[in-house]
Amino acid sequence: MSDIAEIKIGGKVYEFPVITGSEGEKAIDISKLRDLTGHITLDFGYKNTGSTKSAITFLDGEKGILKYRGYSIEELAEKSTFLEVAYLLIYGDLPSQNEVSEFQSQISRHTLIHEDMKKFLDGYPSKSHPMAQLSSLVCSLSTFYPESLNANSSPETMDLTMIKLLAKFPTIVSFIYKKSLGHPLIYPKNKFDYVSNFLNMIFGQRTEEIEIDPVVVSAMNTLLILHADHEQNCSASTVRMVGSSDCNLYASVSAGIDALWGPLHGGANQAVIEMLERIKEDGGDTEKWINKAKDKNDPFRMMGFGHRVYKNFDPRAKIIKKACDDILEKLGIDDPVLEIAKKLEEAALSDPYFVERKLYPNVDFYSGIIYRALGFPTDMFTVLFALGRLPGWIAQWKEMHENKEPIGRPRQIYVGHTNREFVSIENRK
Ligand code: ACO
Repeated sequence: MSDIAEIKIGGKVYEFPVITGSEGEKAIDISKLRDLTGHITLDFGYKNTGSTKSAITFLDGEKGILKYRGYSIEELAEKSTFLEVAYLLIYGDLPSQNEVSEFQSQISRHTLIHEDMKKFLDGYPSKSHPMAQLSSLVCSLSTFYPESLNANSSPETMDLTMIKLLAKFPTIVSFIYKKSLGHPLIYPKNKFDYVSNFLNMIFGQRTEEIEIDPVVVSAMNTLLILHADHEQNCSASTVRMVGSSDCNLYASVSAGIDALWGPLHGGANQAVIEMLERIKEDGGDTEKWINKAKDKNDPFRMMGFGHRVYKNFDPRAKIIKKACDDILEKLGIDDPVLEIAKKLEEAALSDPYFVERKLYPNVDFYSGIIYRALGFPTDMFTVLFALGRLPGWIAQWKEMHENKEPIGRPRQIYVGHTNREFVSIENRK
């Protein structure tokens, strides 16, 4: 028999079912709470609120566990490619060789974007932030593919929309990057796999063919896999929330990109490098900056530390830290910023302020250093996060539709004025 939770209000006891997830997490199902009691719950930042039942990603913040569709992140990062993981997240199972080849070839058929999209790109100021451009361009895809506007169209149409988005996203990212440099755009090439094609569009030149370093391809695959999904985080919840109004996939993902942009979410990877640079320019006194982070009167926060759900360690940070060491060694890069990062990490992990609050380095603490070593400019870091997170957003959007979830519409406790007397404009102070 399942557990029952009791809530006592005004002397009356109400019973609510307790539901248990497949990994043993428990939730009180309060969906009838308001109907039965006239009360709602209040939970700022949704720290205790489950918004859905999902079969995509499991994470245990206390134990530092992250799994996609039941597979551990450690194993996926070591043994699979980003494209396999994208397939896994979206369709539920790891693909066979034939399935992944077919997936790749479907994607390769759709990598070009409409030439008119380049006019939008031309219109953005050359120094504008790439996340703003990415969000607008992804939303603009919906103007070229009107069949995507009906979020409840046939599974074949929806599947094609997902494939198009996966296919065009790296092209859009590379066009944004090339424009920022003032370089000619490099078009996709079907001979490459997903990640190599992206790297070729980013680092390739019209003037000569480039060799794509397998070390870089492997590091990029790892980074993208680690970012591919993270259950109901701010951006995924945004994608689901926007999508719950039956808004199309492109616009829903565009909203997710905006949510990711903030420095408290995906924007942290850019903020980490900017912070490390600042500390370096300030003389590299890490203790001074740790004290600043601890000072409640100082708005400075140690970027790349702390996580809403990981209160022990971030399993992605462990993998990425090793990838970071490997790539710097293989590419022969001696980055002074990495030294500062290591000093900060060591100091923070032994400092009672960080230990007591369980503030550990998160995935963004190291990802920026790798992106930098690979040659990406700082303001592209969050765009790369978005490229990695794309399959997760698609999977979350798809699941929300398949579950036929209702439109997302939280309630509130109103604390404003009650009745006010209207004063005509000429009599107002
Ligand atoms: N530096 C200094 N102090 C911190 C930090 C930090 N990075 N993070 C949290 N704290 C302190 C808070 O001041 C608070 O202290 P108090 O209890 O004395 O008031 C305590 O730790 C708890 O912090 P909250 O803000 O309540 O924790 P929350 O779970 O809401 O926030 C967050 C998590 C937003 C990630 C936060 O730790 C933070 O701002 N980190 C820096 C930004 C960052 O790295 N974001 C990336 C997250 S990972 C991702 O999105 C992929």
